[in-house]
Amino acid sequence: MCGIVGYVGKENALTKIINGLEALEYRGYDSAGIAYLWNGKVEIIKKEGRIETLKKEIDFSLSPTISIGHTRWATHGKPIERNAHPHHCGKFTIVHNGIIENYLELKKELTGKGYQMISDTDTEVACALLDAIYQEEKDVLKTIQRASEKLKGSYALGIICEDTPDTLYATRKSSPLIVATVEDDKFIASDVPAILQYTNQYYLLDDEDIAVLKEDSLTFYQAGEQISKERLVFEGNLESAQKEGYPHFMLKEIYEQPNVIEKTIQFYFDGTKESLFQRLPDLSKYETIHIVACGSAYHTGLVAKTWIEEIAEIPVLCEIASEYRYQKVFYTPTTLVIVISQSGETADTLACLRKANQEGMDTLAIVNVVGSSIAREAKEVLYIKAGYEIAVATTKAYSAQIAVLSLLTLKLALIHNKISEKSFERFKRQLSSLPDAMRTVLKNPKYKEIAEKIYEREDIFYLGRKMDYAIGMEGALKLKEISYINCVAYAAGELKHGTISLVTEKTPVIGVITDPFIKEKTISNLKETAARGAYVIVVSNEKIEEAEECIEIPNFHPLLQPLLTILPLQLLAYEIAKKRGCDIDKPRNLAKSVTVE
Ligand code: F6R
Repeated sequence: MCGIVGYVGKENALTKIINGLEALEYRGYDSAGIAYLWNGKVEIIKKEGRIETLKKEIDFSLSPTISIGHTRWATHGKPIERNAHPHHCGKFTIVHNGIIENYLELKKELTGKGYQMISDTDTEVACALLDAIYQEEKDVLKTIQRASEKLKGSYALGIICEDTPDTLYATRKSSPLIVATVEDDKFIASDVPAILQYTNQYYLLDDEDIAVLKEDSLTFYQAGEQISKERLVFEGNLESAQKEGYPHFMLKEIYEQPNVIEKTIQFYFDGTKESLFQRLPDLSKYETIHIVACGSAYHTGLVAKTWIEEIAEIPVLCEIASEYRYQKVFYTPTTLVIVISQSGETADTLACLRKANQEGMDTLAIVNVVGSSIAREAKEVLYIKAGYEIAVATTKAYSAQIAVLSLLTLKLALIHNKISEKSFERFKRQLSSLPDAMRTVLKNPKYKEIAEKIYEREDIFYLGRKMDYAIGMEGALKLKEISYINCVAYAAGELKHGTISLVTEKTPVIGVITDPFIKEKTISNLKETAARGAYVIVVSNEKIEEAEECIEIPNFHPLLQPLLTILPLQLLAYEIAKKRGCDIDKPRNLAKSVTVE
């Protein structure tokens, strides 16, 4: 959700900013821009489209030593040059990630004072606000502090002021921002990859912290007082942010899944029940569970809902975060609220976590990004061990979330004596063969063959029941986000209540069938579509004769099965998008980290 980079130091700031922006392009890529101070004047270059286009406009033979840059995911105003960042007003030039909610009100006030806005953005308003306050304060630090009091919503800001040409400022509220220092080089960035080629150490700004960066100093302030901050170390390395020979990050990440799952599970479970009791939080008091998340993370919650209800026999409410945050929610003292987020910064999920925290609920976060807002604000956090996920469409983080939820379910079932020794032993035994089984499923050449047959279709349906429906939802989301094919997942029994009218000759219908208890029901529903001409493909843990194409996967314990079932759906989506020539790692209109509502 927009990438910000800022640099001040001794070297060529233009190169530093562009390198940083390229590493952050997954956060937004509809336009990009850079501002630098040269001969006491601010110069701004902005372009619609990718950073590659911006790069062509930059004269790298100049070597300014202070600069800010931005790669945008549009919120206010179309992705055109005029709305691209940086924005400039009076003495100030800024880059922004987030949404200023009261920008219309502020705009009115500032235009009343004579400011003229040329863009449609909330950012330009924030820039004018800084300039207006500065006219009175004549002190940048105090100006930023006062502006923070007036700005409602979320923001991470990189700021330069013509009156202090050797200083870069940064502040944030509910949008991530890090600061790094490597001798005389000082950086600000939305995320770690932007600085990884220089250092893996960084400071994380807290809400309303202000960082003041100069070539020879770095100072942090909170509420006007100078503060010290802890330096953090990023666990991954630059290699983890590179493609390593794969044509796309998505494919690399799909293939990383067997190792990721092994690592994630081993972190919490060594095969003994004791490890589950020691390494996972105490869950004994909870009588209801709420699971809240967005997108794919929500889909993992739906899988967990089926498991927890059926295996541990505890009722679960699984809700989309943007709904839950505004809903009437019924909590009891024995409710546990679980939030799931790869980035740990998703605005709606964070808001739900805060809502539950405010109600005094116990909250547990399942997160990938260490030190992210959700990880820091939840009462308990369980990290998945997915490593850096770069492709916008999640794959390995989805699976690692499933793995952690599977262990939580196992623990709940053990606490309530709902799982037999036989079933526990089967889980344990199959766990050790899971990574190899996943590798075998990944190697199946069928995905390419099926992609070849269906990639030109404009409608595809996914059918399943219960857990298989939840996995179908993820399969459909994967395919639509990277291939732009309209695809919808349906609870298999629901299609005939209207949507089946869309099924025509050769419409691909993908059935997911792994639950033996409802297998026959889903098969009947698939037959109903076949009778209307559908091309029926099935992903199943047994041979389904009725399907035109059956992708067979190994039959595993229900708490492990989804980790195999999802693989054909991910690869099918990948192969179809590739055939259609889509930009797989950076699908249109999307961004990796959704820090706005
Ligand atoms: C889809 C996808 C999104 C995310 C959603 C939540 O491939 O990646 O649907 O799952 O935006 O993001 P996190 O997990 O970062 O909260």
